Amino acid sequence: MFETLKSVPEDPILGITAAFRRDTTSGKVDLGVGVYKDDSGNTPVPAAVRAAEQAMLQAQTSKTYLSPVGNPGFNAQMTELVLGDLGKARGAAGVQAPGGSGALRLGAELIKASNPAAKVLVSDPTWANHIPLLGGTGLAIDRYPYYSVATHAVDFDAMDAALNRLPAGTVVVLHACCHNPTGADLAPAQWQRIADVMAQRGLVPFVDLAYLGLAVDLPTDAAPVRLLASRLPEMLVAVSCSKNFGLYRERVGALLVISESAERTTIATGQMGRLARTLWSMPPDHGGAIVDKVLSDNTLRAQWIAELTAMAARINGLRSQLADALTQATQTDFSWIKAQKGMFSKLDTTPAMVAALREQHHIYVVPDGRMNIAGLHRDNVQRVAEAIAQVMRG
Ligand code: LMR
Repeated sequence: MFETLKSVPEDPILGITAAFRRDTTSGKVDLGVGVYKDDSGNTPVPAAVRAAEQAMLQAQTSKTYLSPVGNPGFNAQMTELVLGDLGKARGAAGVQAPGGSGALRLGAELIKASNPAAKVLVSDPTWANHIPLLGGTGLAIDRYPYYSVATHAVDFDAMDAALNRLPAGTVVVLHACCHNPTGADLAPAQWQRIADVMAQRGLVPFVDLAYLGLAVDLPTDAAPVRLLASRLPEMLVAVSCSKNFGLYRERVGALLVISESAERTTIATGQMGRLARTLWSMPPDHGGAIVDKVLSDNTLRAQWIAELTAMAARINGLRSQLADALTQATQTDFSWIKAQKGMFSKLDTTPAMVAALREQHHIYVVPDGRMNIAGLHRDNVQRVAEAIAQVMRG
């Protein structure tokens, strides 16, 4: 039967990691996959996470099954972390999932179970795995305009106009902060306007929250989600603990749901458990147990927040350094890199420029020009800026 299978093209993001690993040149720079790195190029385990993991291993007496919805303590902590007091006020519920990706897929499966004809819109551009993950359910996926290459910011008028044409019930995937792949986030007043439009038109937000705390800080980054939760009758939030807790390979995330009544939320949560059972049966426990421990212990929580704040500050420092170095090397204004947030910015490169960066300079960015700024360190920013300037000059 396998003779019918066709070979798969490389994943646009993970293929870069594989190519980087094959390169034996010293001084090579990996700006591909979205992982945070410190000044020695290591992706650290935050000290609070390590301490929680050790305590959790000491205390654990059994590895028997939990349930398809995962660890109840973790689910409650994630709901509170993201929604604050609104979580209780709106009767929000959370279900543990294998990473933000698992949460996105689970959300799409829930949408399909509710309305197989529902249409889901993602931003143009969006994370390379959004359409495969969400569209893999069979749901119809389309795009809404989001980014202006000319201004390197959100093309808000185009986005607003597109959302204003959508029929009620359309699901709109929104990146709460640290837009992937552009780094261009909506301003607070623009979020207000999006909340108005969505409320007026009866649209359903499906928020992707993969970078909570890495743009500015926890309250600022959660504010758009809380705004939508205060205004919209129904919403889904896919949260990831990969980046902010450094738990990438543990695969931990959560799907949060808000509905119009406690009864509907209970039914939706039951459906999420049923769907999880058909997809992965139960989520892995380890990462969720660690996050539950970090968030429920005041000392560890404060330590984690301090570490997260330092990560965001470091990324923003690298943004400034890179923007200045690029402006100087190209004699063109790159200050937009400072205005953007999170791990990514997208260079105005052609595929040939991306190939030249890789082949001539051993600098790896994603084929669409997305670079992971969190993968830089202060000693290679200048070299990277000069290499980008060189390939852009042609
Ligand atoms: C990324 O965008 O690089 C990350 O979200 C990792 C991934 O799975 O693609």
